[in-house]
Amino acid sequence: MSEYLNIQPSPISLVESLREIGYSMETAIADIIDNSITAGASLIQLRFAWNTGKPWLAIIDDGSGMSADEVTSAMRLGSNNPLNTRPVNDLGRFGLGLKTASFSQCRQLTVITRKQQQMSARRWDLDSITENPDNGWSLHILSNQEIKAITEITTIINDFLSRESGTIVLWQKMDRLDNSDDSGTGEKKLNSLINEARKHIELTFHRFLETSRGKKSLRIAINGDFLEAFNPFNPSNLATRELPKQTIKLHNKQIIIQPYVLPHYNKVSREEYEKYAGDAGYLQNQGFYVYRNHRLIIKNTWFRLIPKEELTKLLRVRIDIPNTLDHLWKIDVKKANASPPESIRKQLKQIIYDIQDKGKQVYKQKGKRLSDSVKVPAWNRTATAGKIIYGINKAHPLITQLEEQLQPEQRQQLKDLLLMLESCFPTELFYSDVARKPEELEKPAFDRDYFSLLLDRFIAPMLESNISDNEIAERLLSIDPFATYPKEIKTMLKEKGYFHE
Ligand SMILES: Nc1ncnc2c1ncn2[C@@H]1O[C@H](COP(=O)(O)OP(=O)(O)OP(=O)(O)O)[C@@H](O)[C@H]1O
Ligand SMILES: [Mg+2]
Repeated sequence: MSEYLNIQPSPISLVESLREIGYSMETAIADIIDNSITAGASLIQLRFAWNTGKPWLAIIDDGSGMSADEVTSAMRLGSNNPLNTRPVNDLGRFGLGLKTASFSQCRQLTVITRKQQQMSARRWDLDSITENPDNGWSLHILSNQEIKAITEITTIINDFLSRESGTIVLWQKMDRLDNSDDSGTGEKKLNSLINEARKHIELTFHRFLETSRGKKSLRIAINGDFLEAFNPFNPSNLATRELPKQTIKLHNKQIIIQPYVLPHYNKVSREEYEKYAGDAGYLQNQGFYVYRNHRLIIKNTWFRLIPKEELTKLLRVRIDIPNTLDHLWKIDVKKANASPPESIRKQLKQIIYDIQDKGKQVYKQKGKRLSDSVKVPAWNRTATAGKIIYGINKAHPLITQLEEQLQPEQRQQLKDLLLMLESCFPTELFYSDVARKPEELEKPAFDRDYFSLLLDRFIAPMLESNISDNEIAERLLSIDPFATYPKEIKTMLKEKGYFHE
């Protein structure tokens, strides 16, 4: 007969390992918010205080709340089997988030909840678990008296008592901050972590925070300050291009793919351009943004299907997956990672290739303008055999006219000079500036007096041939350097009487 022994996991080591599964403050808070959203909350309030070195943080919702039995089961590690089918709008999967996210940030988790006007509260205190290992996982059931004794959140509890239903998740003993240091470092750290969390929440839950049909379905506030949705695709700007939606079918479920090309920097204000660049910048922030039940799971990655390139940096692709495909996307406990199933990688790659060209066009169009409409450019761009070379246009009248006036020896000097300028162009430096801060690149300031004289010099020989004023203007506007400043030159030509609209 086979022999079995019932071995319970050691609470001390399990707890300490669970704390290290890699949550950050922002992913931990997001995991708690998931639960509130699943519980149908329309207002989620995050409150926190440094509390002279005894910081606490509470997430309060007005969702369905839990009965006494439900909150007991919610506190169990692995309260729900990930293989169970969940309601379509459930943001949970593992039955772990409430506990793992909280333990990653604090040693004391208290859940106070109200359902049908009944209040129940439960607490895990990791210190008492480690101090009394023989008690195993013994959950503290708080009496109403004990709830009232949590003086840090007295006002929150009083307010809570007037509600039909809802839940408070309270973190105390937040030992991941520098609590012992009284120089203010811990408090600063807490504030900066909350600032990061704010941005993370505004992005992760933007689709819940957005106004639809004039109404917001969810409001989230941090210490009373309401958060704004941050939609990374900037769809409300007319210059954003929404490319055709595509659908991939997997196990009879739909994965919806919506690509966007964000506006080029000269199409939006500098402020807006920077806002959508994000802290990491456009180059980093290109890629797929995967949403599970409208909640962002993973962002700015091409899943190593293609490299992140300068030319595709304005491309962001929204992928919507239902929670029924969780297992195939390998969603992790922290809801901060996912990867596409092998069977659709190829299709995703094809989709990227199709849309990649669109992303590149924004840049190509700019390039085209230089070569198509400028008939006499200062620079020539030649692309042959996979190589692109920029060279000074030696047939430009400013160069040919100068050449004509020079002695043979000086002509050679001019050639040397042009060759030096072409071959020593600081390509790498320029590339890195374009990549990092294109909006800071400026042409030299427009010198009106200089351009006025130069225009006169170009106009004089044209007057001798029998061409109309408008044609003179048109020709000049296609010659560099005039073509580089079309707006200013048009104004000057109008003033000189050569441009009639
Ligand atoms: N704010 C809340 N309001 C109502 N019920 C809640 C709330 N928070 C947690 N629960 C209940 O507790 C259960 C356990 O939550 P927990 O976050 O640990 O797991 P989960 O959400 O089921 O899955 P996951 O590990 O993927 O988050 C939930 O399934 C839910 O029933
Ligand atoms: Mg959860």
